[in-house]
Amino acid sequence: MKVAVTGANGLLGGAAVLLLAGRHEVIGLGRGPCRLPAGSYSWADVDLGDGRSVEGALRDFRAEAVLHAGAMTDVDFCEREPETAWRVNVGGTAEVARTCRALQARLVAVSTDYVFDGAAGPYGEDDVPNPRGVYARSKRCGEDAAMLLAPGCAVARTAVVYSGRAGAKSTFATQIVEKLGRGEPVKAFRDQIVSPTLAENGAAMVLELLLETDYQGVLHTAGASALDRVEFARRVAARFGLSGEIVPVRTADVKLLAPRPLRAGLRVDRAAALLREKPIAIGAALERFYQQWMAREAE
Ligand SMILES: NC(=O)c1ccc[n+]([C@@H]2O[C@H](COP(=O)([O-])OP(=O)(O)OC[C@H]3O[C@@H](n4cnc5c(N)ncnc54)[C@H](OP(=O)(O)O)[C@@H]3O)[C@@H](O)[C@H]2O)c1
Repeated sequence: MKVAVTGANGLLGGAAVLLLAGRHEVIGLGRGPCRLPAGSYSWADVDLGDGRSVEGALRDFRAEAVLHAGAMTDVDFCEREPETAWRVNVGGTAEVARTCRALQARLVAVSTDYVFDGAAGPYGEDDVPNPRGVYARSKRCGEDAAMLLAPGCAVARTAVVYSGRAGAKSTFATQIVEKLGRGEPVKAFRDQIVSPTLAENGAAMVLELLLETDYQGVLHTAGASALDRVEFARRVAARFGLSGEIVPVRTADVKLLAPRPLRAGLRVDRAAALLREKPIAIGAALERFYQQWMAREAE
């Protein structure tokens, strides 16, 4: 099958391209040149903020299935630049969806637990979103754009994505390993409940959703454990045998531009029942993260 992946230089999109390579005809659509390891996939440089660029790449490839994982994910940048957030997260998703409908391609659009306000998570698919801040609101509008313009598509919400793969972007999880490894303390929000998601597990779930189901509507595809960020940091440190200082902080005590949902996280029982690739619990996810890290250090 001809499968296109947007956000292909990203954590989730990159993992998806690498999983698909050699099994399907794959194109990665990314901003600028490819930063993934070489493999059997093609590449197109697209700007999600420019409708013609996305439409052209999907049409030229004659995509049959599209994983839309590209987004402006820097929440504080989005807060400063609402025009860009809107253009990329809403306009880009609308254009991907429109093109999928024209090509009769199946679409899975990736979204976030930030669509919830964080008053009472972890959240299930039937809970009512209440996004706060520009990123969150743009992603929520993107969900509607996808479902309105590509009826039959699925929206896969994920949360706090991380990967230990060589070349993968720096995240809270990788910073814990690096900082503690250098003997520096790590600050962690003690009042933010999250569902950390290993990118490779998340990517496998959304690809199965895309290619092996006709599921329509919202599905939560995150890691199986909801925990606060201090506990997450402790679990990472424990797996890596690192004993440095983890400093608990309150979100309200740190100056942040964009609001953060506090009791967030996603309930994933529906994905666990639907998919062969199960949302994995924190212990198993960190084991894989550790193995990825060791492989990267050995390179
Ligand atoms: N990361 C998280 O913790 C998290 C949590 C919840 C939901 N999500 C959602 O999960 C999906 C995948 O995100 P991710 O975790 O893989 O984050 P990511 O690593 O930031 O990936 C997003 C990708 O989108 C690309 N992008 C941004 N603006 C673009 C533009 N104008 N044109 C083309 N590409 C553009 C970025 O390119 P560059 O690499 O050049 O920056 C990046 O590769 C997104 O829908 C995101 O909202 C992520």
